[in-house]
Amino acid sequence: MLAAFALRIDPDDPLAGLEIGEVPEPNVPEGWVEVEVRAAALNHHDVWSLRGQGLSEERLPMILGCDAAGVDSDGNEVLVHAVISSPGWRGDDSLDPKRTLLSELHPGSLAERLAVPRENLIPKPASLSFAEAACLPTAYLTAYRMLFTRSGLQAGDTVLIQGAGGGVASAAIQLARAGGFRVWATSREQRKRDYALELGAHAVFESGERLPEKVDAVMETVGEATWKHSLRALKPGGRIVVSGATSGFNPPADLPRIFFLQLEVVGSTMGSREELGRLVSLVDAQGIEPQIDRTLPLAEVASGIQALVDGDVLGKIVVEVS
Ligand SMILES: NC(=O)c1ccc[n+]([C@@H]2O[C@H](COP(=O)([O-])OP(=O)(O)OC[C@H]3O[C@@H](n4cnc5c(N)ncnc54)[C@H](OP(=O)(O)O)[C@@H]3O)[C@@H](O)[C@H]2O)c1
Repeated sequence: MLAAFALRIDPDDPLAGLEIGEVPEPNVPEGWVEVEVRAAALNHHDVWSLRGQGLSEERLPMILGCDAAGVDSDGNEVLVHAVISSPGWRGDDSLDPKRTLLSELHPGSLAERLAVPRENLIPKPASLSFAEAACLPTAYLTAYRMLFTRSGLQAGDTVLIQGAGGGVASAAIQLARAGGFRVWATSREQRKRDYALELGAHAVFESGERLPEKVDAVMETVGEATWKHSLRALKPGGRIVVSGATSGFNPPADLPRIFFLQLEVVGSTMGSREELGRLVSLVDAQGIEPQIDRTLPLAEVASGIQALVDGDVLGKIVVEVS
């Protein structure tokens, strides 16, 4: 079958290790099921994998991709939860210390077929195309957990979302609006700020711009480039929810600000299978349209990954597999 896979790790030139080509059919262990992939979505995770973050040389070659929607071996239209728990784990899978994401230990979704544990399948609602459904399992799920599980926000509160153009951030704008929050967003580029307004942001700001008032919570996926602004944006007692650090992992901590203003810094990672089910219900019930920047065939995955490296993206890049 055809797949996009990491053949080599190159921390400086992630595209150098990417191959598109024929690979063996998936191995389907007891309790797992094969899914015919119709659409997969790219994430910054694929860039990190090619750079060797979360993927080591001894696991190569590794099929990339965390997100998939397709048809299971019983003919059901499904989307795939990307978190694979360790055998015997019970409870919130994102708290399993031995969990992995598709493409870290088990082959990923950028392939014609994929094997996953049966419990990782979620029925695809008829309201979503395969391409739209493929956007949900990583970026939208991460945004969902940040906003509705980890932020402590209540309807009417103000949330600032940094880096509006990104997959998680643009999802967070849509979900935050649906959740009844006052939604503010930042971006480095005017076209992305305009896009954030189209998605439902109430106000937009340049990256680092002084805000008219302090906010209740900040959703952080950018890291070093926006961290200082995020700390300064918060009301006393406010909370940063952080799930990523695209621009760098080591921002200045500004400890005095954190303790004098009693700020909270809360980590968030992916979400559970149950949260993915609730996200799918929310998207279905509210008529939220997952934002697709562009769709590509599997043969052109490299151009999509390059766009993620360049930050040249508005929402999700989807790979239509069959
Ligand atoms: N913990 C988890 O479970 C989890 C899940 C999903 C993603 N993540 C992480 O979250 C991050 C975002 O993921 P994604 O897939 O949404 O990535 P993405 O689509 O590539 O988005 C990254 C966004 O970050 C902003 N950005 C990048 N460099 C910047 C800089 N130097 N200054 C200001 N803004 C900058 C950009 O926003 P603007 O251009 O609009 O300013 C860009 O659109 C990644 O690091 C990813 O690994 C973590």
